[in-house]
Amino acid sequence: MLEPSGVFHYRDGALFCEETAVADIAARAGTPCYVYSRRAILERFRDYDEGLGDLPHRICYSVKANSNVHVLSLLARAGAGFDIVSGGELFRVLKAGGDPSGVVFSGVGKTAEEVEYALDAGIFAFNCESEAELALVDDLAARRGVKACVSLRVNPNVDAGAHPYISTGLREHKFGIDITEVEGVYERAQAFRHLATEGVGCHIGSQILEPTPLLEAADRMLELAHRLRKKGIPIRHLDLGGGLGVRYRPEDRAPDIRQFAAEIRRRMEGQGLLVLLEPGRSIVGEAGVLLTRVLYRKRTQSREFVVVDAAMNDLLRPSLYRSHHEILPVRRAARGRIRADVVGPVCESGDFLALDRELDDVLPGDLLAVWTAGAYGFVLASNYNSRPRPPEILVDGSQWRIIRARETYPDLVRGECP
Ligand code: LLP
Repeated sequence: MLEPSGVFHYRDGALFCEETAVADIAARAGTPCYVYSRRAILERFRDYDEGLGDLPHRICYSVKANSNVHVLSLLARAGAGFDIVSGGELFRVLKAGGDPSGVVFSGVGKTAEEVEYALDAGIFAFNCESEAELALVDDLAARRGVKACVSLRVNPNVDAGAHPYISTGLREHKFGIDITEVEGVYERAQAFRHLATEGVGCHIGSQILEPTPLLEAADRMLELAHRLRKKGIPIRHLDLGGGLGVRYRPEDRAPDIRQFAAEIRRRMEGQGLLVLLEPGRSIVGEAGVLLTRVLYRKRTQSREFVVVDAAMNDLLRPSLYRSHHEILPVRRAARGRIRADVVGPVCESGDFLALDRELDDVLPGDLLAVWTAGAYGFVLASNYNSRPRPPEILVDGSQWRIIRARETYPDLVRGECP
């Protein structure tokens, strides 16, 4: 079993987030609900920021991991920049009071409208993934009479060893420009008069528990920056993407963020480069749980089921990636252990939070906490089966507040025409 540590811990058998009893939150806010620790989010951000020390750097939190406006504004106030992949994410960052000049825009399919929005907002840089995209950004920048700062996303052909859906740095992936071809692209890009091609970037994958491939990619990026500078292309910033993993299973060893940051700093010191990182999961992942209540116990001839009130529409990761999330009781009852599938109410066989899982015995009405749900949790939630999306709650010491209300039935039909 994953022994809770840090901000989530047991006191006399009851689960606490910081100084708040999680059961109190469920009693007042209802279930299912997401609960995040403010302290955990800010600590992870500072681990990166302080770990890089006086190296010129910017931590561009990857908005896709958890895009709640309140979370973004916490990070903005702590000094974060942002990595966005859509106009919607830029809107959120601006709404949260984030500084557009600290924003990088990633993604393989930016639309003209999104590029225009980002140019008008005055973001720091576009992470471009193709020559066609460079041409579009150049054209739209020219119409505005501005010069857009651009970084090319390089595919360094490093195997991050992650799940195939979240591994991105190999030749066969759709992302980036192959490292063997990218120098030619930089040379041709010099012809675009409204682009300042000053950055080099990569992102090799996600949930990377062994930092060696990330450091290898960083070395390749630095070598590339040197080669480009020799050709007279003035590279000023290096964007190393995100990817550090978190603990989902008891046996996972999550990399130490400060140590990783120190390794990056050692490699990049004195190079005259601004270093950007785009962490998402490692900042918010372990800072959140999904609370759910047991509705029924059910036994068929072949299996034991625990039916809970959270489903794949609330937390998609187990269904989509078969990913493992620990499930712990909110109150330890010492009733022994069972082996069961933990499933939700959605009408799909693929609707489960855990399969064939050993967990503490539970009764209807019991509360469970689904662990490591702060990243790629709520953001992947949907209204499938017309289920209102759950609320998001932020704990700060012994206080907590709802930072996104539970959706209502009228919310479900907003914008539809009867
Ligand atoms: N930068 C870029 C360009 C990215 O594509 C991503 C994640 C990140 C940064 C942040 O990576 P992180 O630090 O969070 O690993 N839904 C999947 C994860 C998809 C990740 C997509 N890109 C999951 O639930 O595991």
